[in-house]
Amino acid sequence: MEEEKVSRRDFLLYAMGGWAAVGIAGVLYAMYKTWEPLPEVKAQATVKFDLSSVEPGQIKVVAWRGKPVFVLRRTPDMGSCKDRTVKEEYTVVTGICTHLGCIPNWEADKKIWHCPCHGGEYDACGKNIFGPPPRPLDVPPFKIEGNTIVLGEEGPEYKQMKEKGLTT
Ligand code: FES
Repeated sequence: MEEEKVSRRDFLLYAMGGWAAVGIAGVLYAMYKTWEPLPEVKAQATVKFDLSSVEPGQIKVVAWRGKPVFVLRRTPDMGSCKDRTVKEEYTVVTGICTHLGCIPNWEADKKIWHCPCHGGEYDACGKNIFGPPPRPLDVPPFKIEGNTIVLGEEGPEYKQMKEKGLTT
C-alpha cells in the first residue's frame, strides 16, 4: 500500500517536471523570437548595387541601413583617388557630413559635395577640402563581387582600407 503512494508521488513529480520543462522551453522560444531582428531589418543589413548602372560622371544614391550612400563614377577630370576608391573609378561614401550630420549635395559643375548646413566641402574622393568637417566622408563596409558592390559586408578591399585608416 505504501509502495503505491510513493510511486504515485514520483509520477506526479515527473509529470510536474515535464510540464515545467515544456513551459521553460516555450518561454525561451518566445524570448528568442522577440530578440530576432524582423525580416525587413535583416534584408536591409546588406544591400547589393550594380556599379555598372552608373554612367561616367553620374552619382546615384543607395539607401543602406537608413542612410544615403553616394555612388559616384568619376571621370578623369575629377582626379584619381588611389586610396579611397572602392573599385577603379568608383567613389562610394556615406552621404552624411562628418561635421554635424547633414546630407551634402553633389555640385556637378564644381565636382564637389557641398554641405548646406555650414558650407563644408568634399572632393570627388569624399575628402574634406573646406570648412568645418573634421574628416572625409565615411566609406561604408563593402565587398566587391564582379560589378556588384555589397554594402554591409567587409570584403578584402574594405579591410585593407580599414587597416590603413582610410574608411573614416
Ligand atoms: S554639418 Fe556639414 S558642414 Fe556642418
